[in-house]
Amino acid sequence: MKWIGRILPGALVLTVLAIGGWLLLASRGGGLAVPSAAIVTAENLHDPALIARGRYLAIAGDCAACHTAQGGMPYAGGRSVSTPFGSIPAPNLTSDRATGIGQWSFADFWRALHAGRGRRGELLYPAFPYTSYTRVTRDDALAMFAYLQTLVPVHTPSGASGLDFPYSMRSSLAAWRAMYFNEAGYRPEPAKSQAWNRGAYLVQGLGHCNECHAARDALGGVSGHPALSGGRIPELDWYAPDLSTRAGGGLQGWSEQDIVDLLQTGRSAKGVAFGPMAEVVADSTQYMSGDDLRAIATYLHALPPRAQPAEATPQFDARALARQGGKVYGQHCADCHGKDGEGVAGVYPPLDGNSAVTEPTGINATRMVLLGGFAPLTQANLRPYSMPPFAQQLNDSEVSAVVSYIRQAWTNRAPVVRPEDVSHYRHTPMD
Ligand code: HEC
Ligand code: HEC
Ligand code: HEC
Repeated sequence: MKWIGRILPGALVLTVLAIGGWLLLASRGGGLAVPSAAIVTAENLHDPALIARGRYLAIAGDCAACHTAQGGMPYAGGRSVSTPFGSIPAPNLTSDRATGIGQWSFADFWRALHAGRGRRGELLYPAFPYTSYTRVTRDDALAMFAYLQTLVPVHTPSGASGLDFPYSMRSSLAAWRAMYFNEAGYRPEPAKSQAWNRGAYLVQGLGHCNECHAARDALGGVSGHPALSGGRIPELDWYAPDLSTRAGGGLQGWSEQDIVDLLQTGRSAKGVAFGPMAEVVADSTQYMSGDDLRAIATYLHALPPRAQPAEATPQFDARALARQGGKVYGQHCADCHGKDGEGVAGVYPPLDGNSAVTEPTGINATRMVLLGGFAPLTQANLRPYSMPPFAQQLNDSEVSAVVSYIRQAWTNRAPVVRPEDVSHYRHTPMD
């Protein structure tokens, strides 16, 4: 979960110290927009249908991904989210009264999800993606709350914050929030179909797709970039591609069915999920209903076209590189991915026209070659094919050559990857 670190960026600190305290004072008097909890009664919290819906929504929101320690009880906390400024523990969400949310009211829970504030009103770190969850409806929040309250209480005291000063001061978040966070809801667009609206609600809210699939500016906010236009996850060294299927988009040429297939099974005719996306599929999207996945696909399919990426200009002798790369490809890759990068349907993904190959940075293809790949295990795909790692067999210049080759061969036109980049990605720890 190191990817979250990009949310707390370097340049933040000075700005924050300068105006953080002031904003905090200024915001104290304001109402917190917490709706009355009067309509929440013990009976409706125990409604089995509500609890079942809450369980489904918590999976769609992938809450367990951060709130579960490795090998620990789901939702019981004990895992810390790493950031470049230190680590932030994701607390216990079970019904334990001392260390979990057993004593919380629904109003407390709603305020956390919708307004990013803890039980005492303290500002929460955006490593908890309330920047997206703020769009979740009150009804859906109530269902999740009802579900979490049914979890067997597990006693897990929250780990100590590993944040360095001044990030350790919650008040330092006030300025960041003033710039990048608005309490919001999802406002349906009446001109669009019901499926589109459902998809928009899921993608922008619970699915928090934009937290990975958008570039962040120097202060770690996503404003200023078109939604879902792709971004690098620096702490993990993966690139989450642009999700438009139109001209210039990262998923150009994907049908709605390809998107549904990827989210449901981990693979599609266009590409296979790997890295952080494999986790998202394995833990969350594979369990979503066909209707919800189709709604997500409808929404992504309607994203606008993107500016065409500039034609790649090779930084060094492209021909020599292509010759060397073509040779490595023929020796080590063509058996599975095909001489012309066409892949083998349902077994090996195509490399021609694949955004995992052509995304702007070259990180994904480089790291796949170094580390190999394991597609997610899903109910629909119990025996996914894997790709062997080449870190031992190929040196930096060979990896650079073969990756540059697949980025420029066939219909692909993406910038080359230099040997020094390969060396850097080789030393990125896996998460
Ligand atoms: C990407 C990681 C991540 C995901 C996904 C995530 N959380 Fe969290 N959550 C955190 C972290 C980290 C904190 C602690 C923030 C802080 O200390 O300021 C937190 C805090 C919270 C809190 C406040 C708890 C307290 O004791 O103050 C609640 C409630 C919560 N999350 C609920 C949820 C729910 C519900 C979901 C799914 C819809 C969810 N979280 C998904 C990382 C995550
Ligand atoms: C934790 C970060 C993260 C989150 C959250 C996330 N993604 Fe991704 N996603 C990635 C990365 C990294 C890749 C590139 C690796 C790959 O292609 O599998 C990716 C790739 C994809 C792909 C293309 C797969 C391919 O083969 O080219 C689709 C489609 C996608 N994501 C959809 C979504 C949707 C829809 C959501 C929200 C429900 C989402 N993602 C949430 C990180 C994330
Ligand atoms: C034994 C068969 C095999 C060999 C050899 C192989 N691959 Fe793969 N490759 C796969 C499989 C299977 C996947 C999907 C795995 C996953 O998603 O985790 C994959 C995925 C990829 C991807 C990501 C595409 C996507 O959409 O998931 C790239 C890029 C890639 N391979 C490049 C290469 C290159 C370059 C070589 C040679 C150096 C190579 N592969 C050798 C089987 C192979």
